[in-house]
Order: sequence, then structure tokens, then C-alpha cells
Amino acid sequence: MDYGQDANPSALLRLVKEHRKLGLSSAKAALLLLAAFLVASFLFTGVGNARSLRNFAQQAPNVISFLTRSAFESPEITWAQVTSTITEKLQQKIQTRLEKARRYHESLSNSIHLQNPTTPRLLFLQGSGGRLGNFLFCTASLIGIARRNQYTPIYLINDERTTLFTGLNIEILNRTDALRLTRQTTLPEISEKGAAIYSDYIADFPLQHGNQSVILSGFLQSFKYFHAFRDEIRTALTFTEAILTQAVQSINDSLNALHGENNGAMYRRVPRLVGIHVRRGDITAADDLKNFGFLGATIHYVMNTIRLVRRLHRNSGTVFLVVTDDVDYCLNVLQLRTFKDVAVVSSKDNPPAVDLAVLSLTETVIMTVGTFGWWGGYLSESEEVYYYRKWPKKKSRLAKLVERRDYFLPTWHGWV
Ligand SMILES: *[C@@H]1O[C@H](CO)[C@@H](O)[C@H](O)[C@H]1NC(C)=O
Ligand SMILES: *[C@@H]1O[C@H](CO)[C@@H](O)[C@H](O)[C@H]1NC(C)=O
Ligand SMILES: *[C@@H]1O[C@H](CO)[C@@H](O)[C@H](O)[C@H]1NC(C)=O
Repeated sequence: MDYGQDANPSALLRLVKEHRKLGLSSAKAALLLLAAFLVASFLFTGVGNARSLRNFAQQAPNVISFLTRSAFESPEITWAQVTSTITEKLQQKIQTRLEKARRYHESLSNSIHLQNPTTPRLLFLQGSGGRLGNFLFCTASLIGIARRNQYTPIYLINDERTTLFTGLNIEILNRTDALRLTRQTTLPEISEKGAAIYSDYIADFPLQHGNQSVILSGFLQSFKYFHAFRDEIRTALTFTEAILTQAVQSINDSLNALHGENNGAMYRRVPRLVGIHVRRGDITAADDLKNFGFLGATIHYVMNTIRLVRRLHRNSGTVFLVVTDDVDYCLNVLQLRTFKDVAVVSSKDNPPAVDLAVLSLTETVIMTVGTFGWWGGYLSESEEVYYYRKWPKKKSRLAKLVERRDYFLPTWHGWV
């Protein structure tokens, strides 16, 4: 079946890793690495020329430099210029997204056939417990499964989170109206086998239910329910202008805050924006959740992926924007403020939607665990997304509810 997967330029990474595992001679491995970095620089920055080769040759692979200077480089720019360039680009990006989302929202207003005298084929979503990430999975799956079967998606819930998105245009009905419109005496309910396990009987529900209108329930956390419609999903889930504007301001503020550190230094290029989501909270604190199989990513994972991404994009440079539900942990345990290229964006005042919008504006996403980070990766449209490979805990009850191939996009990178 075609789930419409994206192309995968960073398969390279895996190649390098695998050859390391195979234990090639160091000379061969070095050659492979050299080739991989050349191609990677070509793919990631479009600069597959002698400059990359020189840079590679000048720097041992493990020496990370946010600021690589070279006599061959373009004119240098200040940190203030870097910040304003990034902010301006992001403002253009959000305007483009908003225009598309508004057009999409409009187009749906004309195509809702609820008042149509013939029996409509409606697919209802009954609820979406949990927080923003859960809501997004339920909504995306509702739209994806409805499109796939030419049904109209409908909410049976009045969830205030629907107002966070410019593109979202799904009618809300109560049960009485739902029954009246469908002319059915009952609304069959479709339940899932696990929170993150894809099932054909859900995706192709009309086969079992004789084209009736039905209610979807559960967590529906598989990209396979909606990835074939990814452009529509991402357009529908474009945040409101107010949220996106606040996200850009947060990024601007965070970059300005790095200014003290970076003042006086000069830069060759505008660095790549990398979003990191550090999920802590209940899953790392509550015993019942830990016993169930939830866990947080390790300190090693966060540091390891930061180093990896810095190294991969050493030509452009990188700046890391951290969003988290535990600022203290990021500052005091991970000590992220000690790096001059890492800014902690989250504050107690940032609503979760703004933090998620920040992630959606970055070019590479490092998630730890959890659906919030998952959606940061998905909405960013990045082809470079990292996740903590040891989640969920092996042999736990949670592990039985998660099929990793259904949950993580095959183009994303599991890391430890
Ligand atoms: C259902 O919604 C309709 C239209 O919005 C309203 O008239 C009706 O009173 C509602 N019924 C219930 C049971 O809430
Ligand atoms: C359901 O609809 C499809 C096409 O819309 C049709 O081919 C099929 O016969 C219908 N099945 C039933 C049981 O009505
Ligand atoms: C970004 O920060 C700079 C420096 O404080 C400020 O002049 C500029 O107006 C800010 N831009 C936005 C969009 O907030």
C-alpha cells in the first residue's frame, strides 16, 4: 500500500553507521565518511564543491566549530544580522503557510454537503483525550481516513483546541443531529487494538460497515492513517497567525539572548535552525507511568544528537532552539545554557501551541519522546528528524500498544 513516503536524503547517515558497525578498516571507514560528508553537504547546503572538501580536510571529524572561518569564505556577518535574517525569513514562511491555510479553509466551506438531501457519508470523531499531541493525531487520522473513503470528517466533540488552527474547518455536531443527518438509528463505533498500531479494518472501515456513518475512537497514532494526505494535513494544522507570530517573536528573543555570548564574533552563513523538544513531566515522574513503559530520553541521547547535527551541518553552522515542559532540567541538568549555540525558548508563559509552532518552523527536529515532539517533527516538514530509539520500554505494557513501524516515519532517525 502506498502511504506516500517522502524521499530520504539522509539515508546516508544510516549507511555510515552501518559501516561503522561492520567494523571496516579505519582507512576504508575514513574514505566512506569523506564521501558521505561530501554528499551530505551537497544535499543539505547545495554546496558540493571544493569548499566542502577543504573544510572537511581542515577539521578532524570530532572537532565541532560553530564558527568555521576560512580565507575562501564569503563576507562575514554579525550575530545581529544573522538574527534579523532568520526572523525575516520566518516571517515570510508563516505568511506563505497562512495564505495556503486560509485558501484551504475557504475551499472546504463550499464543499460541506451536510445539508444535502441524500444521506451523507460522515465519519465522526468522538473525543481525543490527552493534550495537544493526542488531539493532533486524532484530527489528522480523522481527516486522512475520511479522505481515503470519501467521507466527510465531523467532530462529535466541542474541543476548544480546534480554534488553534487557521486551516482546520471541520463541522461540530451533537449526537442528535448526527443521527438525524445520517438517518441511522445507531452510530457504530470503531475501536483500535493499540494506541499506535495501524489497522486496515480502521483505515478501510466501510468494507465492514456497509458504507454507514461511523464513530472513530481511540488514539489513532499512526502516520499511515494520513500520510498520503500530508500536504492537506499540514495545511489544515497551520496554527493561527497570532500563535505563529508569537513563535517567531520567541525565536527572535532567544536568538537575541544568545547575542551577549556571540557579540563580536563574525559568521559566514546564516546557521541552520534546529528544534529540540525535551519531554519530561509526568512520564519521568509518575511511577504508574514509568511502570507502564513510559520513559524520558537520556542526557546522552540529547547531547549525542546535538553533536551529530552540529557535525552534519558544520558548513552552514547550527543554532539549537530548545522547547520543553521542564526548563529547570534543561538548564540545570543538561546545562544547555553553557553552549553558545543553544537557546532555551520555552518559558512558563509560552502556551504549548506556541512551543509547537516554534518546532514547526525549524529545519531539523530532535524529538525525545512523546506525541508533542512527534508533531513538531511532522509539522516542520523536515526530512531530518531524530527520535529516542529506546522508547517505549522493552516488554512493557506500553510496548504492546505501539508498533514502531506504524508510529515513526521510515525517513526519521532512531538514535540513542
Ligand atoms: C444539538 O444541536 C442542535 C443544533 O445546534 C440544537 O438545536 C440541539 O438542541 C442540540 N441537541 C442537544 C441534545 O444538545
Ligand atoms: C459501498 O460503496 C461502494 C462505492 O461507493 C460500493 O461499490 C459498494 O457496493 C457499497 N457497499 C455497500 C454494502 O453498500
Ligand atoms: C527582533 O529583535 C530585534 C532586537 O531586539 C528587534 O529590533 C526586532 O523588532 C525583533 N523582531 C521581531 C519580529 O520581533
